[in-house]
Amino acid sequence: MVSLSLLSLIAGLAIAAPEAQHCRCRPHEECWPSHQEWSNLNDTIHGNLVAVRPVASVCHGSEFDESACKAVTDQWHDSRWRAAQPGAVQWENWESWAEHDQTCYIESKNDTKCGQGRVSLYSAKVQTAEDIQKAVNFARTNNLRLAIRNSGHDYIGRSTAPESLQIFTNGMKDITFVDDFMPAGAPKGKNEGHAVTIAAGVNLAELYQAAGEKKRTVQGGASHTVGAAGGYIQAGGHSPFGTRGGMASDNALEFQVVTASGTLVIANEYQNIDLFWALRGGGGGTFGVVVNVTVRTLPEVPVVVSSLNITTSLGDDQFWDAVSEYHGALPELNDAGGSGFYFGYPIWPANATTEVSAMTSFLLFAGYTNTSAVDKLYAPLRSKLHKLTGVTVQYDTFALPSVNSTLQRKWGGEGGDSTGGVAAIISRLYSKDLLKSKNGPDRLVKAWRRLRYDSGDSFRGHAVGGGAVTTNAKKIDSAVNPAWRKALTHLVISRAWKTNATVESQHAMIKNATDIEIPLIRSVEGEDQMGAYGNEAHPYEPGFQQSFWGHNYPRLYQIKQKWDPEGLFIARIGVGSEDWDDAGLCLKK
Ligand SMILES: Cc1cc2nc3c(=O)[nH]c(=O)nc-3n(C[C@H](O)[C@H](O)[C@H](O)COP(=O)(O)OP(=O)(O)OC[C@H]3O[C@@H](n4cnc5c(N)ncnc54)[C@H](O)[C@@H]3O)c2cc1C
Ligand SMILES: *[C@@H]1O[C@H](CO)[C@@H](O)[C@H](O)[C@H]1NC(C)=O
Ligand SMILES: *[C@@H]1O[C@H](CO)[C@@H](O)[C@H](O)[C@H]1NC(C)=O
Ligand SMILES: *[C@@H]1O[C@H](CO)[C@@H](O)[C@H](O)[C@H]1NC(C)=O
Ligand SMILES: *[C@@H]1O[C@H](CO)[C@@H](O)[C@H](O)[C@H]1NC(C)=O
Ligand SMILES: *[C@@H]1O[C@H](CO)[C@@H](O)[C@H](O)[C@H]1NC(C)=O
Ligand SMILES: *[C@@H]1O[C@H](CO)[C@@H](O)[C@H](O)[C@H]1NC(C)=O
Ligand SMILES: *[C@@H]1O[C@H](CO)[C@@H](O)[C@H](O)[C@H]1NC(C)=O
Ligand SMILES: *[C@@H]1O[C@H](CO)[C@@H](O)[C@H](O)[C@H]1NC(C)=O
Ligand SMILES: *[C@@H]1O[C@H](CO)[C@@H](O)[C@H](O)[C@H]1NC(C)=O
Repeated sequence: MVSLSLLSLIAGLAIAAPEAQHCRCRPHEECWPSHQEWSNLNDTIHGNLVAVRPVASVCHGSEFDESACKAVTDQWHDSRWRAAQPGAVQWENWESWAEHDQTCYIESKNDTKCGQGRVSLYSAKVQTAEDIQKAVNFARTNNLRLAIRNSGHDYIGRSTAPESLQIFTNGMKDITFVDDFMPAGAPKGKNEGHAVTIAAGVNLAELYQAAGEKKRTVQGGASHTVGAAGGYIQAGGHSPFGTRGGMASDNALEFQVVTASGTLVIANEYQNIDLFWALRGGGGGTFGVVVNVTVRTLPEVPVVVSSLNITTSLGDDQFWDAVSEYHGALPELNDAGGSGFYFGYPIWPANATTEVSAMTSFLLFAGYTNTSAVDKLYAPLRSKLHKLTGVTVQYDTFALPSVNSTLQRKWGGEGGDSTGGVAAIISRLYSKDLLKSKNGPDRLVKAWRRLRYDSGDSFRGHAVGGGAVTTNAKKIDSAVNPAWRKALTHLVISRAWKTNATVESQHAMIKNATDIEIPLIRSVEGEDQMGAYGNEAHPYEPGFQQSFWGHNYPRLYQIKQKWDPEGLFIARIGVGSEDWDDAGLCLKK
């Protein structure tokens, strides 16, 4: 009797123990799965479980291997290679856990130890929905920290997690086109027409190639290796053809998802509607593991490409006047269908001896064949720039036969994106109304001019709002940041440190970004008026809930609690992450 009640007392205490209840199981703890248990998981996923070390481990300490290290060094900046490595992501800083002094930078001396950092300890290289279910169930049952990893492009640390099991989706490459998609459970007559189903690991270059062959187009971004079905579309996904087709997520028709309970579900307009709403903008890594997504395809159209370059002598005020004129002209160009990118270099080393101030822009006009029609649209801007005597303008337009040929020129084929360094950016969305207002462009330029620029630094403008991005507000109710519907441009600047920066200096840069620079660029339209795009934002964005999701946040938080009450899927500064510590290892309080 005594021993029984003692036992139940002990059992009761064990359940109440804060360690066990509020933290994920960690490798040094008894709860950590045994070798046999890992091996069993491996068997159930057909031998596709790997133990992972950071890719640069072969360049350090006792793991040093000269030829392996050379191979890693040679491929360091190749985003295709990085995408395929469970022991890497695209940006080195998210492989490291600086606060715990765990880094494995290739730049650091080879006699320094390679720390595991935020790189997962095990990777389940999943091929099917069943593999994903096995890995999800294993993580839940064993109370493990879980990371979902596709291309690893994430800017805010959502695709790595310390001491975690990784679900590596990048190898899932199926692409299936259909002429008349019928969402599961849709009533008769609710066919959606041409669509494509993209498995979790398909990247943009692969999708563009496949769509080109079918003479169809898909709303996608400006990159080779960003994942079409992963974090990109789940946080919205902007496109250089945004005016034509809206956000990538506006075109999503159905998701197949493994949820935290390990169940495979379909989310569309007719079933699991709340999940469907959240997956279109609520952010990757948060609501479940997407197995595949079906998106609408659009017919091919011709494109006119416009290119405008502005140059002044270094530091000439007229550079900023020209940047302001450009922003003032954007609403009209955008209303006519123009969307695309621009890059401003206040200090640009034109050659070994001369620095200048320069901006280069290219906007795409889908559906146009006539370059002179586009030239006519640019005439007012060009005449204003002409009056700025210190400004040299280069301008050109040319016609291309298709969206496919336009995308293939820049983001198709076998090329990759250059990655591998440290990435930390700050960003802001700006409305069309701001740019149309009398002093709006000047206010914008005044703020961005006050940021620090070193030689070669650029502000990067994404004029990807307007058009269908705006009009889709009436058709589509989704979790995407409502600010996108009013936005015309999304401005970004890098605020990264060197890999050898001390933790203190990293924190100083982060503090300057959050306390000085973000408030500055946010003040242009008033605090929290527009916010930021979660896929391209600062990793310590203040008030990220409001910034990334505006009034959608409370509903997103509720949906998160419903589908993942235990927080199995926690992504850094994602929905519900505020309840956890920065590493997602322990519940706060
Ligand atoms: C060179 C470059 C160009 C870019 N261009 C654009 C652009 O034109 N437009 C744009 O909108 N953005 C662009 N981005 C930003 C891009 O959208 C984000 O980096 C995005 O997070 C990438 O998603 P991913 O799945 O490829 O990356 P990952 O880092 O692998 O994943 C990102 C997030 O999604 C989650 N995730 C991935 N796969 C799944 C899945 N199957 N199920 C559930 N969660 C998943 C991860 O857990 C993580 O939280 C660009 C980024 C770079 C580096
Ligand atoms: C999983 O199984 C495969 C094939 O048997 C093996 O090569 C691999 O090393 C195993 N992974 C782990 C983590 O043991
Ligand atoms: C470090 O690199 C040098 C050559 O660059 C090599 O001689 C040395 O053996 C390496 N150190 C370790 C620990 O392997
Ligand atoms: C999408 O994934 C589900 C679940 O694995 C699968 O049944 C379906 O066939 C996939 N769709 C396509 C078109 O591949
Ligand atoms: C799409 O572009 C690629 C690369 O330029 C080309 O090989 C392919 O033929 C194009 N497809 C169509 C239908 O034009
Ligand atoms: C360097 O660039 C400047 C500005 O474009 C130009 O005037 C100069 O001739 C160039 N010098 C050389 C050596 O190319
Ligand atoms: C091209 O556009 C211009 C200006 O809008 C117009 O005058 C001209 O007729 C158009 N040409 C063709 C071939 O459509
Ligand atoms: C503008 O500059 C870019 C980058 O240098 C270049 O590719 C483009 O051809 C230039 N455009 C014009 C019209 O000269
Ligand atoms: C903080 O940011 C401002 C604006 O970019 C810059 O001028 C300043 O040098 C920065 N300060 C520090 C300490 O980095
Ligand atoms: C860090 O590396 C850079 C070169 O990338 C070098 O100029 C700088 O002195 C180094 N700083 C420290 C603190 O080692």
